[in-house]
Amino acid sequence: MKGTFPTHKFRELRTPFYYYDTELLRETLAAVTGEIARYENYKVHYAIKSNANPKLLSIIRESGLGADCVSGGEIRAAVKAGFPAGKIVFAGVGKADWEINLALDYDIFCFNVESLPELDVINELAKAKDKTARVAFRINPDVGAHTHANITTGLAENKFGISMQDMDRVVDAALEMSHIQFVGLHFHIGSQILDMGDFVALCNRINELQDRLEARHIRIDHINVGGGLGIDYRHPNRQPVPDFKSYFATYAKNLRLRPHQTLHFEPGRAITGQCGSLISRVLYVKQGTNKQFAILDAGFTDLIRPALYQAYHKIENITSEEATETYDVVGPICESSDVFGKAIDLNKVHRGDFVALRSAGAYGEIMASGYNCRELPQGYTSDELV
Ligand code: LLP
Repeated sequence: MKGTFPTHKFRELRTPFYYYDTELLRETLAAVTGEIARYENYKVHYAIKSNANPKLLSIIRESGLGADCVSGGEIRAAVKAGFPAGKIVFAGVGKADWEINLALDYDIFCFNVESLPELDVINELAKAKDKTARVAFRINPDVGAHTHANITTGLAENKFGISMQDMDRVVDAALEMSHIQFVGLHFHIGSQILDMGDFVALCNRINELQDRLEARHIRIDHINVGGGLGIDYRHPNRQPVPDFKSYFATYAKNLRLRPHQTLHFEPGRAITGQCGSLISRVLYVKQGTNKQFAILDAGFTDLIRPALYQAYHKIENITSEEATETYDVVGPICESSDVFGKAIDLNKVHRGDFVALRSAGAYGEIMASGYNCRELPQGYTSDELV
């Protein structure tokens, strides 16, 4: 089954562009907020890195979620979209001084701190402003996620977080610091995770670490388990709203949260992934030696996931209903990796047809680049194109 698109509206637009189905985005957000309402102490911070299109940010902010930021630019985007600073968390393995200062000026909810040297700098900068920074430590739980190696973050070999052996030492250091308030622990094991068992493994690890802190009479108010819930790239229409019910229930069942504690989540892909498609026009159909190519006006500059992670995005010819033929679907960039899919069955393709690359709402538009001096793709919402 193909997605439905207002192709008559697309004719007026310069391709390639991102098209966002805001009805689906709202439905997805309603599923998230509906589920967390069942647990009084669950808070969700949308991971802005997955998509910072201002039109989407304002819809997400309206739903009441907070924001998970990884740079000063993302903090600015969140504030501009109206996310309250008190609902902003700030992660990242290399926070620059100006970014820390910006976060201190806005008085964000919490820094997710990834090393002792970073903690020192935050303490110094907070002192200079006579402020106290709330911090959570990002602990590397050494839990593998069954996903692509480039998007696994919670293994000991990854650059992220503080190792479990170092946790006590870093906590002790924080407790001594005059301008630091240690409020919690933060984790993130990876992205595009569909096996709930990976989240169960994370919960078990957090339970151990909490016991370790409690044995030392250290009490924390916040646990942040990051993001990572995956989406169905193969069948974008089958269950376009991810199974948030099972996701939150997995944590409710396996994480031993203390009564006073708040549990924070940072989903990105699960919120924005399915509502976006990259819309492109076919420039040429070229006959190769043993195959035919559908050459699009979109390339890896517009959607880099296939080239970078060998990621699958469902490709549909949304103009034609003719019998299918098999194509390698490629872009115009001067690199052999500029391929969206090989041996793809599409309704017979003609020059000028619109092709949709589905499930591209997360890590699509935001990762676009200007390589080859190409213009960045625009993003349009279904609200605008009625
Ligand atoms: N929290 C932290 C600390 C993260 O590092 C990430 C993603 C998230 C939350 C959100 O994860 P999500 O719910 O979206 O899985 N560009 C790659 C994905 C990189 C993810 C980086 N961190 C891709 O296109 O697949």
